[in-house]
Amino acid sequence: MKEAIEKILASLAELKCQNEKEVEEARVRFLGKKGEVTRLFEEFRTVSPELKREFGQKLNMLKKQVTEKIEDLKGSVASSGASAAGKEDETLPGDAMGLGSRHPVSICRQEIINIFRKFGYDVAEGPEIEDDYHVFEALNFPPNHPARDMQDTFFVSGGHPNPLLLRTHTSSVQVRTMEKSKLPIRVVCPGRVFRNEAISARAHCIFHQVEGLYIDENVTFADLRQAILLFAREMFGEDTQIRMRPSYFPFTEPSAEVDVSCNICKGKGCNVCKGTGWLEILGCGMVDPNVLEASGIDSGKYSGFAFGMGVERIAMLKWQVNDLRHYFENDMRFLREFNTCVEV
Ligand code: DAH
Repeated sequence: MKEAIEKILASLAELKCQNEKEVEEARVRFLGKKGEVTRLFEEFRTVSPELKREFGQKLNMLKKQVTEKIEDLKGSVASSGASAAGKEDETLPGDAMGLGSRHPVSICRQEIINIFRKFGYDVAEGPEIEDDYHVFEALNFPPNHPARDMQDTFFVSGGHPNPLLLRTHTSSVQVRTMEKSKLPIRVVCPGRVFRNEAISARAHCIFHQVEGLYIDENVTFADLRQAILLFAREMFGEDTQIRMRPSYFPFTEPSAEVDVSCNICKGKGCNVCKGTGWLEILGCGMVDPNVLEASGIDSGKYSGFAFGMGVERIAMLKWQVNDLRHYFENDMRFLREFNTCVEV
């Protein structure tokens, strides 16, 4: 009996099971009705009384060890089965990852910049939190002048002569450029601007502008007209026409607003151009001598033109989007329409 116990202990030590079926087979082999351990208990009846105590203990020990081992094996095949089930199949094809794309406002902004780069313009940027001097005063808006009301301003700090504010237009970058650059100047200034406006299909309190400035000797209104015409044709198509309407800005004299022929109805009149055949794209004019002088430029020798356009406005016209808010809501269905990259 002693050898039989040792034999069982030895085979128990080597026992390995891959799955529940094998564990069950092992249980039956040792503890089943005709199992090896069960048989030893039957043999125990025949053991002589003086050995009963010793073998009784040994057999109980053996049964305990076998039962524990079977329980352990049960536990380990269950957990390895679970982890096998939870393990990803690395041979499966991966999830397709959509490529991001640039925002339509960024695409349009870049397109405007690229066009003017081709014409030889540099790019300049300035701070979004500006002072009153650069946004208004140096641009010929006298204090308390009603023209300041054309742009409803968010003030950051007030109570002193030159309060900080969120710039209402990128014309402030003109001033900063004139202050520090050598002449001649040819720059476009893209940037974000802020106005205290109610949000609607046509207005937002945050939007983007691109400002343009050209200063040299003998710059004329004809140069301005030609620059805008070439821009409009690059942006909206070869056969685009422009028209200039007299307007008022404190920093330009004379000032104009520019319309392009409607690229949808080709000037015949439709609901986008409200039957007029024309769409307004920007404001412009000859830089007022006061503005040149405020930045230390001799207005007797130099002249220049400036223009400013809303990027969202250009983007709306270019892609025929009828509500400005689409550009700010980040609805993926809208943004995906501008995704020129193929999804993989
Ligand atoms: N700053 C003007 C605005 O935000 C746009 C503008 C008009 C800019 C005429 C100019 C300009 O440089 O000459 O409404």
